[in-house]
This record gives sequence, structure tokens and C-alpha cells, in this order.
Amino acid sequence: MTDPTSRERAAFDDAESDVEQIHRQIVRELADPGEGYERVPWFLWVTVATMVFWAGWYIGRRGGSFDTETHVEYAQVGLTAGAAGDTTASAPVDPIAEGKRIFGANCSACHQSTGLGVAGAFPPIVGSEWVVGPEQTVVRILLNGLGGAVRVKGAMYNGAMPAWKESLDDADIAHVLTYIRQWSPNAAPAVSAATVATLRKATESRSGPWTEAELKALETATPAAPATPAAGPAAEVKK
Ligand code: HEC
Repeated sequence: MTDPTSRERAAFDDAESDVEQIHRQIVRELADPGEGYERVPWFLWVTVATMVFWAGWYIGRRGGSFDTETHVEYAQVGLTAGAAGDTTASAPVDPIAEGKRIFGANCSACHQSTGLGVAGAFPPIVGSEWVVGPEQTVVRILLNGLGGAVRVKGAMYNGAMPAWKESLDDADIAHVLTYIRQWSPNAAPAVSAATVATLRKATESRSGPWTEAELKALETATPAAPATPAAGPAAEVKK
């Protein structure tokens, strides 16, 4: 009686362990992947992110702000260069129009679009003796700025005029000065980019704004000053 029972039990235990083992295997092994539920591989994310970043940079750098005129200038440069080389630089630039644009973009915030300035804070451009005075003086003011007490049109100012030598090139400075020197009733001769270039070079080592006293001293000294260093080495070479 005991024997069959124990044999039965042994058989039952075997069967149970078999079932258990099979289930364990099923649980342990992963299910076959179902279609449409794969994880996106990391390198695909990296590629997509890189492409989006690059495309953003590309549009920012070359998109021309989505302006419809973006390519017009290139077309014109190509046309004029092919037709007549020397007209490319001179023909399209009207110094007065260009000077007016530069004034509006850089100067009118302080000197006002009327050119009349703000009493006690920003001196006037229209009617200013500085603007129509010696060209080297206004060029110097534009290149390095102006600080300290200064008399303009009979009124005293004590502000800080920023330097423009970093942000405006020789042609820009020449254009804006030509414009303000001829802003009615101002009527002074145009300023050339060459004059600005010469003074830029001569004042290269100067940092910080000019003062009224310095500029006035230079006005009397300047005619002799540039001639001396130029004549010195040239004379030596000839000997
Ligand atoms: C941040 C304000 C500011 C801006 C921008 C500015 N200026 Fe001035 N400017 C001044 C002040 C202030 C003075 C007087 C400085 C002083 O009191 O020492 C002055 C003086 C001058 C003078 C000599 C005095 C006179 O009125 O004739 C000229 C010329 C001049 N600026 C031209 C320009 C031009 C051209 C630009 C644009 C490229 C410009 N300024 C931009 C503030 C400014």
C-alpha cells in the first residue's frame, strides 16, 4: 500500500518539476519581437538631432531672413561686374543717401532724427560749428569719440560720445560725415574715405575719447605733424 503511494507521489513530483521547469524557461526567454513596436535606436535620434541643429544653423546663416530681395544684390554685382568693372563700387552708392541711412541707424538715437540733439544732453548736429569745421576734427571725433566739457552752438555739454572706429569703416564714416556736413543749413565739403583712412592710421595707438582742448590743439598743429614723419625716412633713403 505504501509502495504504490510513494511511487505515485514520486511520479507526481517529477511531473510537477517538469511543468515548473518548462514554465520557468518560457518566462526566462523573451517573447519574439512584435512588428511595429521596436525601440528607435539611439543613433537615429542622434542623427535626427544633428540634422535639425545643422539645418537651423544653415537657415540662420544663409536664409537672408527669408527676404525676397536676398539674391538681387548678387545678381546685380554679377551683371555690373561683367558689363563694366569700375561702376560696381561707385555707381550704386550715393554718399548722402548712405550717410542718412548710417545716421538713422547709429546717431539719431542721441542726436535725434532732426539733428537738433537734446538740450543739456546731446549736442546738435545741424548748425554745429564742429560739424562744418576742419574735417580732421570731426573725423577724429567719430573715430575715437568725445568726452568732457564741450561747447556746441553756444551751449555747454558734458557727455560721452562713443567711438565708432570699431563699428564703422572708412567709407561709412566718410558717408555719414558728408551727410551731416551738408545737412541744411550746414554746407561744408564732403569727406573722403581716404581722409578717414589716413586719420585712422595716424590715431591707431590712441584709445579713449578726445577732449575739446586736445582737438583744438591738434587743429593748429596738424598741418605740420603728418609731413614730418613722412619726409624724414624719405629724405634718408635718397641720400
Ligand atoms: C550715445 C549717444 C551718442 C551717439 C549714438 C552719437 N553721439 Fe555724437 N555726441 C554725443 C555726445 C554726448 C556728444 C558730446 C560729447 C561731450 O559732451 O563731450 C557728441 C558729440 C558729437 C559731435 C561734436 C559736437 C556736435 O554736436 O557737433 C559730433 C560731430 C557727433 N557727436 C556726431 C555723431 C555722429 C555722426 C554719430 C553717429 C555715427 C553720433 N554722433 C552718435 C552722443 C552721441
